Amino acid sequence: MSIASDLLANLLAKEDFFSGLSQQRRLYEAAKTAIHQQHLGAGTKLPSSRDLARDLCLARNTVVAAFEQLSNEGYVSSSLGSGTYVADLAEMKPIADQNNHLDALALTSATAQVAALSRRGAHITAFAAGPRFEIQPFVPGDADFSNFPFKLWQRLQNRVWREARSELLDYADAGGFLPLRLAIAEYLRVSRSVKVAVENIVITSGTHQSLDLCAQLLADVGDTAWVEDPCYWAARRVFEACDLRLHPIKVDAEGIALGPEDLATDPRLIYVTPSHQYPTGAVMSLARRRELLDVAVRKNAWILEDDYDSEFRYTGRPLASLQGLDSADRVVYMGTFSKILYPGIKIGYMVVPSALADPFKIALYDLQRPGQLMVQAALADFISQGHFSTHIRKIRQIYGARRELLRKTLVAQFGTQLNQRVSISSEESGLHLVVELPDQVDDVALEKLAAESGISVKALSTYYLKAPVRRGLLVGYAYVTPDKIVYYGKLLAAVILSGVR
Ligand SMILES: Cc1ncc(COP(=O)(O)O)c(C=O)c1O
Repeated sequence: MSIASDLLANLLAKEDFFSGLSQQRRLYEAAKTAIHQQHLGAGTKLPSSRDLARDLCLARNTVVAAFEQLSNEGYVSSSLGSGTYVADLAEMKPIADQNNHLDALALTSATAQVAALSRRGAHITAFAAGPRFEIQPFVPGDADFSNFPFKLWQRLQNRVWREARSELLDYADAGGFLPLRLAIAEYLRVSRSVKVAVENIVITSGTHQSLDLCAQLLADVGDTAWVEDPCYWAARRVFEACDLRLHPIKVDAEGIALGPEDLATDPRLIYVTPSHQYPTGAVMSLARRRELLDVAVRKNAWILEDDYDSEFRYTGRPLASLQGLDSADRVVYMGTFSKILYPGIKIGYMVVPSALADPFKIALYDLQRPGQLMVQAALADFISQGHFSTHIRKIRQIYGARRELLRKTLVAQFGTQLNQRVSISSEESGLHLVVELPDQVDDVALEKLAAESGISVKALSTYYLKAPVRRGLLVGYAYVTPDKIVYYGKLLAAVILSGVR
């Protein structure tokens, strides 16, 4: 989906955006808003009416009629064969219809606020994920930080401070604190079958920064990035902010499912979550892993493997990484301590192919000036002294039991009739499960309804870049204690029942 389609889709998805008016009028108003607020700047080429109709799931006539109206009023200009372009508002005559709600809006403070931003800045801020999810029952992705071993951590930190090594107060160069990189290398070799030497490890401030560095160092403006559809919102945001062209690829029970139309494009980056697709939970099959590695070699593309929660596998052994199968050095592997320890620790890592190791370390140092060596030192001790593995074992048990309890609670509440119409994701890993709903159910409305009962679930359809979307709810269980799982599980089941009946 192009940036313009994405922008318009986001505006149209807002429930109160000219609700009650025709599709044509809503699209016209959305485009006008985007032009006034300079999210669609002068000279921007709009997608063809055919592409826009497909991306927004509208009839082509509707799009053509909305374009015509915009053209009549001078917001866009079209010439046969070359496409439709946004006009320069500065050159426009005063707008006739000053009573129009949106024109007024555009001329007020909103415009003044965004006018100072670059076009990219305006785009990023307009479509940011918004205020952080309230931490309340079933918020997807959040762990239960009350299990964090505070005392032990304090002891390790104290020891580092007592040693008073002044060099640890400096910026972190050479990819991060060596003992931490050694400890991570050992952990990845044993637990994730990653092929790694310590030189290949670059410590970052988390997966977001890892993705940003990859986008900046491995792709140029306008290059194509293949992403899973549905996709982790932050990967999408980072790539968009780097002006990459996103090509969404559908996901099925075996993970990313390449079709002929995908293979006809040439990606520079391929972003995947093979161990536990975010958000559907699908585990990429071995055949698909091999296929993807082959394609990456043929297309000369880089695979970015986001292994964000593979530690949370509740039955059987954790799956080996995709990187471990790569014999052509096409995979950049990414991990994070956000989920196992706590998000605010802001430490993640990449395992990059040898040819990329020095350029990545140089760029990280020049662009970001990383630091936090004291925390990195405490973390190195935490891992090498065996506390990390112990902690993983402990929380894995806790979250596994919570997952089972949530599933049982929902199944019992749904009853036979509903259990035939909805399905609960069955893979035994991660920090959330997906309750899949029938296609006609409005999952966004259910998300809002659940919020009224103090429950933070997330609509599956909002993670998609293009139609057709699947409907469902992401329900996180790690953060919620067992008594609350039963109480809020019943409330959530009632919300779902009200939408599916
Ligand atoms: C798919 C995915 N990747 C990575 C992360 C972690 O990102 P970070 O290390 O920047 O906290 C998350 C966190 O929610 C995630 O859901």
